[in-house]
Amino acid sequence: MSSIHSNIKKSKKYLDNNKCIGVPTETVYGLAGNAYSSKAVKKIFSLKKRPKNNPLIVHYHGLSNLKKDCILNKNFFLLYRKFCPGPLTFILKLKKQTKISKLVTNNKKIVAVRFPKHPMLKLLLKKLKYPIAAPSANIFSKLSPVEAVDVKEEFGNKIKFILDGGKCKIGLESTIINLVGVPKILRLGGLDILKIKKTLNKPLTLNLNPKNKSAPGQSKLHYSPGIPLRMNAKREKKNGAFLALKRRKNKKKNFFYLSKNGNLNEAAKNLYRILRKIKKNGYKSISVEKINNYGLGLTINDRLIRASQF
Ligand code: TXA
Ligand code: MG
Repeated sequence: MSSIHSNIKKSKKYLDNNKCIGVPTETVYGLAGNAYSSKAVKKIFSLKKRPKNNPLIVHYHGLSNLKKDCILNKNFFLLYRKFCPGPLTFILKLKKQTKISKLVTNNKKIVAVRFPKHPMLKLLLKKLKYPIAAPSANIFSKLSPVEAVDVKEEFGNKIKFILDGGKCKIGLESTIINLVGVPKILRLGGLDILKIKKTLNKPLTLNLNPKNKSAPGQSKLHYSPGIPLRMNAKREKKNGAFLALKRRKNKKKNFFYLSKNGNLNEAAKNLYRILRKIKKNGYKSISVEKINNYGLGLTINDRLIRASQF
């Protein structure tokens, strides 16, 4: 049996036994547990040190399973056809007969769901008899992990297994859209909102306020690298690192860059990894160059604003 298949088998065994494991997605790594099991979901909250009122995203392999738990609508189908599997999370109404643990949604009648694109996770989900609840695999308010070693760094031996699927292709969390009533974006993410707007062909409201009760995870202190970060900087501070969007001739040790030629998708992919690296190398602060506010640049800036609240 190939190592991929034996690792997937192992993952299934842990999940079937209500254990939590690290899983790869195309956005960031998740801390996964059986979404139908309150025992497993409880563990996710306690491992992450996450407040109970901050609900989790449930990950599905396909539509037929989602239909058992959620009420689907026209806007959902428009977006599903175009972008799934992919970095888009939908807020939908729960069906009365849903098996999703009440702890996932903090007893609310709405739930966040998505269809991850990572081939290894898709294989795993296909083998399971339940969807998986998975928040990003980091301790509450810290940076999301984009490689298996990051997950290890966050949880050490507290989790028994990490399904290693390499580096995440997108590197930023999914975009969240509330489809209960008028479509509203609750979190900027790996899918450009202009594409969503085009597909729905109607105006789209943004509700990204950190005080926004419908997405409690959007709190101000979030995505923190653990050292002070400032944006729109021209140079580093004393004992600090400088992070540029584009590579340039600079031999200084404290110079880092997000992409070779300023490509925002590449920058998104590298962002969390490089922020982690800067912190690990012992720098006392991070000064980030101005980043264009379009495409995934919007999401990068959203994360940097939150990271700079430290
Ligand atoms: O890309 C992603 O979405 C990753 C991967 C692992 O799938 N997951 C992720 O999960 O970022 P997490 O838990 O770190 O962020 C989920 C966000 C939180 O801000 C939470 O408040 C919001 O989704 N959320 C979950 N359920 C919700 C609901 N019913 N209504 C509004 N917001 C919800
Ligand atoms: Mg998170």
